[in-house]
Amino acid sequence: MYEFTDDCLIGVEKLDNEHRELFRIINEAMNLLGNEFKEDKYDDIVQILNELKDYTEYHFRHEEKYMEEINHPELLLQKRQHMEFTAKINELDAIVDFREQHEVLEELLKYLVTWLYRHIIGSDIMIGKMMPMEQWEKQPKFVFSDEYYTGIEFVDNEHKELFRIIEDVNQVIMNDYVHDKYDEIVRLLEELKNYTQYHFNDEEEYMTKIGYEGLGAQKKAHDAFINRLEELDLEEIDDNQQQTLEELMEFLTSWLVNHILHMDKKIK
Ligand SMILES: [Fe+2]
Ligand SMILES: [Fe+2]
Ligand SMILES: [Fe+2]
Repeated sequence: MYEFTDDCLIGVEKLDNEHRELFRIINEAMNLLGNEFKEDKYDDIVQILNELKDYTEYHFRHEEKYMEEINHPELLLQKRQHMEFTAKINELDAIVDFREQHEVLEELLKYLVTWLYRHIIGSDIMIGKMMPMEQWEKQPKFVFSDEYYTGIEFVDNEHKELFRIIEDVNQVIMNDYVHDKYDEIVRLLEELKNYTQYHFNDEEEYMTKIGYEGLGAQKKAHDAFINRLEELDLEEIDDNQQQTLEELMEFLTSWLVNHILHMDKKIK
């Protein structure tokens, strides 16, 4: 059973309901599948898998349309991720008769539900909690602001350091006099990745020590973010420096701000 927990809520009601429905469908498929094959469940399983395909398609269309309406900067990225998921779902078609491939199907369903969880926590969460674009554009972006204080000193200091590195990257991006910024940017992004990892470890250690109940959700969010940093395609950055980098900084900062405001501030 894969539970849809509160940390999956992104704050847009219709999308939250659709995510919950996707979880329900996958759980139902897994229940029907059970531990071993039962002949009388065959038709039901075929039906629920079709439902999963149709509903996913419906939901992604809906989500992308919503993002378009609010002019969300991550639309293209989300479209790519959704395509990846759809491709995985389409592997279902290759399973001609799952009587023979019970395990393949089970693996696939597990993959889908894990992917979905990560995607909601790592990407969809940005859709609802993000500030309205007009307000976001006015905000001094790469600066630590008073409302980010969590009241835990080392956490606040580490957050400040994260903002410092992000600000450094931004300086290089905005500097028109450096022709090839690539090396410097790669170095700074590496520094950012390492420091982020270090900070998440510290934070998780602290939460473990005080027996914080939100530790699980925090870990998932942290993992999703680290994953995103690891997936960065530096080749792509080299080809199309300015635009890719500006989008990247937008993403990193808004993720960090959201995470601090909605998750880290609750720790204390
Ligand atoms: Fe999504
Ligand atoms: Fe943090
Ligand atoms: Fe955190």
